[in-house]
Amino acid sequence: MVGSVVRPGDERPGATGPGARRSGSSTRQRFGAMGLEQLDPTVEAAMGSVLGSVEAELRDSVFSADPLVAEAARHLVEAGGKRFRPMLVALGAQFGDPREPFVVPAAVVMELTHLATLYHDDVMDEAPVRRGAPSANSRWTNSVAILVGDYLFARAADIAADLGTEAVRLQARTFARLVHGQIAETVGPRGGEDPVAHYLHVIAEKTGSLIATSAQFGGMFGGANPAHVAALARYGETIGVAFQLSDDLLDIASESEQSGKTPGTDLREGVPTLPVLYALAADDGDAASVRLREILAGGPVTDDEQHAEALTLLRESAALKRARETVRSYAEEAREQLSPLPVGGPRRALESLCDFIADRTS
Ligand code: IPE
Ligand code: IPE
Ligand code: MG
Ligand code: MG
Repeated sequence: MVGSVVRPGDERPGATGPGARRSGSSTRQRFGAMGLEQLDPTVEAAMGSVLGSVEAELRDSVFSADPLVAEAARHLVEAGGKRFRPMLVALGAQFGDPREPFVVPAAVVMELTHLATLYHDDVMDEAPVRRGAPSANSRWTNSVAILVGDYLFARAADIAADLGTEAVRLQARTFARLVHGQIAETVGPRGGEDPVAHYLHVIAEKTGSLIATSAQFGGMFGGANPAHVAALARYGETIGVAFQLSDDLLDIASESEQSGKTPGTDLREGVPTLPVLYALAADDGDAASVRLREILAGGPVTDDEQHAEALTLLRESAALKRARETVRSYAEEAREQLSPLPVGGPRRALESLCDFIADRTS
């Protein structure tokens, strides 16, 4: 299945098309987008092979006989994306043998599950843009986006069934954790709960869960030894938290060309991410901090002028700097969790991801 080596940068014939051109995302460009330009050649060849096959299978996997379902399901697959979760499967598998036949379908299951959550997340967050394209909810309707998200979960479950009971159970439990994270975010901290601790719990559940399982699936299906699989899962969970934190910082600090999303969405939706929580917790008398607290204390910032003002103040705030330090400390912790793994190209690649995520927002 993955016996023949696809050179990184070559996409298999099925992986090209208007969408792939629109995203301009060859496998090599995707490595670059995650700071993986300097891969060991053996690691690069193995990842190129796995990810090339994943692209082809992803497109096949979202086919539907219903033209609307097929088009709406293809929409975000073809819009691009970093394929971070399949990358972790491909890297985790290299602590065993990445040519093992279940490595590619396991990566497809992870990306499909992720994709389904994006369809649903954009409905909840009323996000207009995703992966540089109109979100499914804005291109079609909320109902279409929700149902197509459900269809993608169904496709992921179908493929997971081929991988065995353990994989199905792990995927189901991962998804349950993710849903609990999204619900906890929606409900907010309960009486007396520390908002920062609540937020860190939310992101471990909604994002760390799937990224942990991706690294774990890689190790499991590559046939790595159980101690290495456990280390991969712990690393995935922590780098997943760092990744979500860095994404939240980008929502404040980036332009949409960088993220493929609309900056300031969290602020507009009243999702209090770490920089906002740190800003609200500050008690200094600095005029900019006082004004920022005044705007943020009101919940969702929907007024355009106030929204622009809050973004500018946040970008220059001590709270943003402090949140960057928190990202760094999680990235550092993830690096330490790699210590049980053998030193070599695959471990160096996982370490590079820590550096990339730590520096992504500075
Ligand atoms: C977006 O995930 C949701 C988060 C967990 C931050 P990604 O940033 O991996 O999104 P794509 O797959 O590249 O579009
Ligand atoms: C990401 O949600 C987590 C899931 C989709 C499960 P967010 O709302 O934080 O991510 P973006 O910023 O829309 O990608
Ligand atoms: Mg969102
Ligand atoms: Mg969300």
